[in-house]
Amino acid sequence: MSFNRKDLLGLEYLDKKEIQTILDSARPFKNMFTRSIKKAPALVGKTVVTLFYEPSTRTRTSFEVAAKRLSADVVNIATATSSVVKGESLIDTGKTLEAMKADIIIIRNTIAGTPHLLAKNLKASIINAGDGFHEHPTQGLLDLFTMYEKKKKIEGLKVLLVGDIVHSRVAKSNIWALTKFGAKVKVVGPPTLIPKNISELGVEVFYNLDEAIKDVDVINILRIQKERQQENFFPSDHEYIEFYQLTKERLLKAKPDVLIMHPGPMNRGIEISSEVADSPLAVINEQVTNGIAIRMAVLYLLATARNKRKNRG
Ligand code: CP
Repeated sequence: MSFNRKDLLGLEYLDKKEIQTILDSARPFKNMFTRSIKKAPALVGKTVVTLFYEPSTRTRTSFEVAAKRLSADVVNIATATSSVVKGESLIDTGKTLEAMKADIIIIRNTIAGTPHLLAKNLKASIINAGDGFHEHPTQGLLDLFTMYEKKKKIEGLKVLLVGDIVHSRVAKSNIWALTKFGAKVKVVGPPTLIPKNISELGVEVFYNLDEAIKDVDVINILRIQKERQQENFFPSDHEYIEFYQLTKERLLKAKPDVLIMHPGPMNRGIEISSEVADSPLAVINEQVTNGIAIRMAVLYLLATARNKRKNRG
């Protein structure tokens, strides 16, 4: 088994073998979901803490479900009602949780690099659940897992990321992972929402969705992140919808079996029409289910690597 990390901070830092190990480990966990008892004892006696400084529905809940299915004790810190609001620093908060013998801390923060800072200062394993515009590694992993499940390959797959690339940590994690596996990645969106140097990551840049959509196997639509936009990146929602919304009419230009993905939460009627979001080509809810299997795999692999390090002394 090729995974011996203390932390999961981003897909940029993992090699293909390590990513493959996570994907392979997620498969048997997903098979568990059809059993009447969806529980395994792998994390008995371990304490998993979620520390979210930003809102979340999918990621926080699915980490909690994943940890509970592995029989861990789970503690959720709502930062709005914690001592963070009294001015406690990130590292002091982390050290407090470690003093309570937290084994794994899952953190989401608006500032890129906060999981890295915690990882450097704590013995607990740290999982990045989204840091600013930087990375969202478990979302990237569950996206890869879903693409592989549906298309039976990643190498050579043509994947289009649509929309707000500049503010999207999901886009960055997708790009790091997909390019390591030999997928051909395209990005498309308004020039203001595409980072200037993005082609250095090995992706092809488009500004016209109707052109970009033509020969792709997967379309991963990104949320327009209004809460992160300090200025107007496009003139109006109306204009964005006209040029970049994935509609039923636009889909006619794509392959008939194109896979439609969205990390959620969706802005229905902005980046994606309801008809497309609810169409049989969309696997948005399956992504959520797969997220639990991927997070079980990540928790299991980190806990196993911790035990090995402990046993070696
Ligand atoms: N995809 C994702 O990160 O969703 P949440 O913000 O609901 O966790």
